[in-house]
Amino acid sequence: MAAGVRASEPRVLVCLGALLARWVAAGLEAVVIGEVHENITLRCGNILGPRGLITWYRNDSEPVFLLSSNSSLPPAQPRFSLVNASSLHMEALSLQDEGNYTCWEVLNETRWFQVWLQVATPPPSAPQCWAELSPGLFTLQLSCRWAGGYPDPDLLWTEEPGGVVMGTSKLGVEMLNQPQLLDGKKFKCVGSHIVGPELGASCVVQIRSPSLLSEPMKTCFVGGNVTLTCEVSGAYPPAKILWLSNLTQPEVIIQPSSHHLITQSGQSSTLTIRNCSQDLDEGYYVCRAENPVGVREVDIWLSVKEPVNIGGIVGTIVSLLLLGLAIISGLLLYYSPVFCWKVGSTFRRQDMGDVMVLVDSEEEEVEEEEDAAEEEEEEASERDESPKEVTKYGHIHRVTALVNGNVDRMANGLQALQDDSSEQQSDIIQEEYRPV
Ligand SMILES: *[C@@H]1O[C@H](CO)[C@@H](O)[C@H](O)[C@H]1NC(C)=O
Ligand SMILES: *[C@@H]1O[C@H](CO)[C@@H](O)[C@H](O)[C@H]1NC(C)=O
Ligand SMILES: *[C@@H]1O[C@H](CO)[C@@H](O)[C@H](O)[C@H]1NC(C)=O
Ligand SMILES: *[C@@H]1O[C@H](CO)[C@@H](O)[C@H](O)[C@H]1NC(C)=O
Ligand SMILES: *[C@@H]1O[C@H](CO)[C@@H](O)[C@H](O)[C@H]1NC(C)=O
Ligand SMILES: *[C@@H]1O[C@H](CO)[C@@H](O)[C@H](O)[C@H]1NC(C)=O
Ligand SMILES: *[C@@H]1O[C@H](CO)[C@@H](O)[C@H](O)[C@H]1NC(C)=O
Ligand SMILES: *[C@@H]1O[C@H](CO)[C@@H](O)[C@H](O)[C@H]1NC(C)=O
Ligand SMILES: *[C@@H]1O[C@H](CO)[C@@H](O)[C@H](O)[C@H]1NC(C)=O
Repeated sequence: MAAGVRASEPRVLVCLGALLARWVAAGLEAVVIGEVHENITLRCGNILGPRGLITWYRNDSEPVFLLSSNSSLPPAQPRFSLVNASSLHMEALSLQDEGNYTCWEVLNETRWFQVWLQVATPPPSAPQCWAELSPGLFTLQLSCRWAGGYPDPDLLWTEEPGGVVMGTSKLGVEMLNQPQLLDGKKFKCVGSHIVGPELGASCVVQIRSPSLLSEPMKTCFVGGNVTLTCEVSGAYPPAKILWLSNLTQPEVIIQPSSHHLITQSGQSSTLTIRNCSQDLDEGYYVCRAENPVGVREVDIWLSVKEPVNIGGIVGTIVSLLLLGLAIISGLLLYYSPVFCWKVGSTFRRQDMGDVMVLVDSEEEEVEEEEDAAEEEEEEASERDESPKEVTKYGHIHRVTALVNGNVDRMANGLQALQDDSSEQQSDIIQEEYRPV
C-alpha cells in the first residue's frame, strides 16, 4: 500500500496530518453510513491475518485520540471498544459522530486507513407532495418534501401512469409544461433515502380542472338585496373564482363595492347585490373558476321584480281561488251534502297545494336552494359552451316539474303573474320542448 514509514509513537501525531493528505489524495477512504442511536463498527482496512498495534483517531481540526490496542491506554469514551483487535466499535451514534476517522497501524511497517462516517436519520413520516402555481408564471409547480431525515433524500418525480421520469433532485420541485396540464393527470414523487426503505416512499398528486355548482336563476326585488352563490369542486390546485357581469358587452369583472359585496370561503364564493335596480342589475352574471388545468364558467340570470305588484296579483288570485272554492262548495252542499263532504275535502287539499306553489314561485328562496343536482359537466373538451347549456336545461327541468307537479289548472294564471319581466321565462318554457 502506501509508502512505509517507520515511526515511533511520539512522531505519529506529528506526521499523521501530512500522511493523511497524501492518502486522501489517492482517494482511498471508505465511506460508512450509520444511523442515529444505532451501533457501528469501523474496520481498519480490509486486512486478514495478524494485526500490529492499532490506534484510532478522529481527524477533526487536529487528530484526537480515541482508542488503542495497547490496553494500558484507556479509550477516550466508554462507548468505544476494539473488535477483532483492530475495528472501532461505537455505540449509540449521534449526529456529532459524523466525520473522518483514521486508524494507524504499526507492524513491521506503518499503515493508516481513513473511514468517513456519515450518520443518517430516516424521515419519520411519509413524503408529502402538492401542486401550486409557480410564483410569477402561470404554470404549475410540483413540490415534494420528505422532511426530518438526514442526509436529504433524493426525490424523483414521474408521470403516471407510465412512470416517465421528469427529474430527480434533493429539492423535489418540478415545473409542468402546458401539454402535461391535463385534467385528471397524476404525478408521483418517490423519495429514496440512504437508510431506506429499499423501494422508497411515495406520494401522488392529481391535477384537476374546476367544476362549478350554482343556481341558474335568482330573483331580487327592487331596492332589496340578493346573494348569488358559486361553488367550485374538484379543482386541484384550488381555483381562482371571479364574478363577471354580462349586462354590458364585453363581460366585465365585478369589483367589490358598496353595491357588490364579494366573499369567498374555501372554494365557495358569493356575490351580494345590494339595493337591486331593474336597469342596473337585471341580466346575466357569470361565475368563472380557473386554475392552470382549466377554466369553467356558469351563467346566473338575475331578474329584478317589483315586490308590490306581484303581492297584489298573488293576493287577487288567491282570493279568486277561495271565492271559486266557496261557490263550488256552496253548490255541492246545496245539491248533495254527503257527496260534498267527500269531494270537498279533495278540493281543499288540492287548493292548499296550489296556494303553496304560488308562494314558492314568489319567494324563490326554496327554488334557489334546490338546484344542487345539476351541473355534472365533466367533459374537459367542452370548456366554455357546455356549462352554460347545462345550466339552462337544469333550470328548465325545474320549471317543468313545477308546472307538472301541482298547477296544471293554474298555468295560465302563473304566466299572467309573471307579467313583463318574464321574457326570459317564456323563452325557457319554449326550450322545455327541445331535446336535452
Ligand atoms: C449496541 O451495543 C450494545 C453493546 O455492545 C448493545 O447492548 C446494544 O443493544 C446495541 N444497540 C443496538 C441498537 O444495537
Ligand atoms: C486531518 O487533520 C489535518 C489537521 O490535523 C488536516 O490537515 C487534514 O486535512 C485532515 N484530513 C481530513 C481528511 O479531514
Ligand atoms: C502501551 O502504552 C504504554 C503507556 O503509554 C507504553 O508505556 C507502552 O510502551 C505501550 N506499549 C506498546 C506496545 O506500544
Ligand atoms: C471479526 O472476525 C470474525 C472472524 O474473522 C468475523 O466473522 C467478524 O465479521 C469480524 N467482525 C468485525 C466487526 O470485523
Ligand atoms: C471527510 O473527508 C472527505 C475527504 O476525504 C471530505 O470531503 C469530507 O468533507 C470529510 N468529512 C467531514 C465530516 O469532515
Ligand atoms: C512484514 O511482515 C510480514 C509477515 O508478518 C511479511 O510478510 C512482510 O514481508 C513484512 N513486510 C516488510 C516490509 O517487512
Ligand atoms: C341590504 O343589505 C344592507 C347591508 O347588509 C342592509 O343594510 C339592508 O337592510 C339590506 N336591505 C334589505 C332590503 O334587506
Ligand atoms: C355574454 O356576452 C357575450 C358577448 O360579449 C355573448 O356572446 C354571450 O352570448 C352573452 N352571454 C349570455 C348568457 O348572454
Ligand atoms: C338605491 O338605488 C336607488 C337608485 O337605483 C337610489 O336612488 C337609492 O338612493 C339607493 N338606496 C340606497 C340605500 O343606496
